Amino acid sequence: MPQHFLAVRDISADEFNYIVDKAIEIKRDPEPWSESLKGRTLAMIFQKTSTRTRFSFEAGMTQLGGHAIFAQTQHTQMGIADIADEGKVISRYADLIMARMMYNRDLVALAQGSEVSVINGCDDRYHPAQALTDLMTIKEKLGRTEGVKIVYMGIANNVSNSLSMASIYAGARFTLCVPEFDPPAVDEEQLAILRANDRYEETDDPAEAMKDADVVYTDTWINMEHFNNPEFAEEKERRIRTFKPYQVNEDLLRLSGKETTLVMHCLPAHKGYEVNETILYHPNSVVFDQAENRLHAQKALMLWLLGKL
Ligand code: CP
Ligand code: NVA
Repeated sequence: MPQHFLAVRDISADEFNYIVDKAIEIKRDPEPWSESLKGRTLAMIFQKTSTRTRFSFEAGMTQLGGHAIFAQTQHTQMGIADIADEGKVISRYADLIMARMMYNRDLVALAQGSEVSVINGCDDRYHPAQALTDLMTIKEKLGRTEGVKIVYMGIANNVSNSLSMASIYAGARFTLCVPEFDPPAVDEEQLAILRANDRYEETDDPAEAMKDADVVYTDTWINMEHFNNPEFAEEKERRIRTFKPYQVNEDLLRLSGKETTLVMHCLPAHKGYEVNETILYHPNSVVFDQAENRLHAQKALMLWLLGKL
């Protein structure tokens, strides 16, 4: 079976940290890798919208000398066919598949059919390519990940699932500061692993969580597929009321007691909700470098999956 990257736990901590280090190296000196994937094709399948994931994977493939094919599922036969069969067929044309599916179960089916590695481009449970980028960014900015205190503020979701596991893999301390979990993202098996680790903690108290934080990270309270969905309007209002005390802003940042606490967000951000109008532009915010790093981290990931690192 090919090596997939559907969740952080699909690879070992050593493998994860190796790819992070290589990503930093490739960012500093990309030239030696410019022909590494010559003649190779990445199939990119999207059931949902995207800016960063789509552009960074496609540009990454260009920079490695390969080619990427972009397809929205509604323009394929995936809606009327068996997903595993479609995955098998696509894998006969492409050397790698990256897919952003609505449901993790469909991504798993796609990967089960595929004869090449499949990368999760964000589903309802995980966003592992984002987490790889996030730990790369923290290492790049702070020079280390070991012992760093990473606080995730807001709703426990696909992004926090991948970030929490990745942080533990990288030797960091991780505090999940949430009043509740996004139901489809609950992963009991992973939670049991995390809760058994003394570098992992959970709280619903932002002031307690922020003490000594080296990084504060947040994400949308409402995932992209629901954000403008009228059927989700009532739940959206409820979440806005529930999560308001968890907004990342200058007052919250000061609670770390450190001048250097980094502000991170996977983007897209929703100003007035999980962040205020100004925090993304604070000197401690690294969100735009973080977004750039999707490119470098995913280049390293694709090289690794294709046996080139
Ligand atoms: N962070 C992220 O995955 O962004 P997109 O939804 O724009 O791809
Ligand atoms: N939690 C967000 C992540 C966006 C990259 C969502 O699923 O929409």
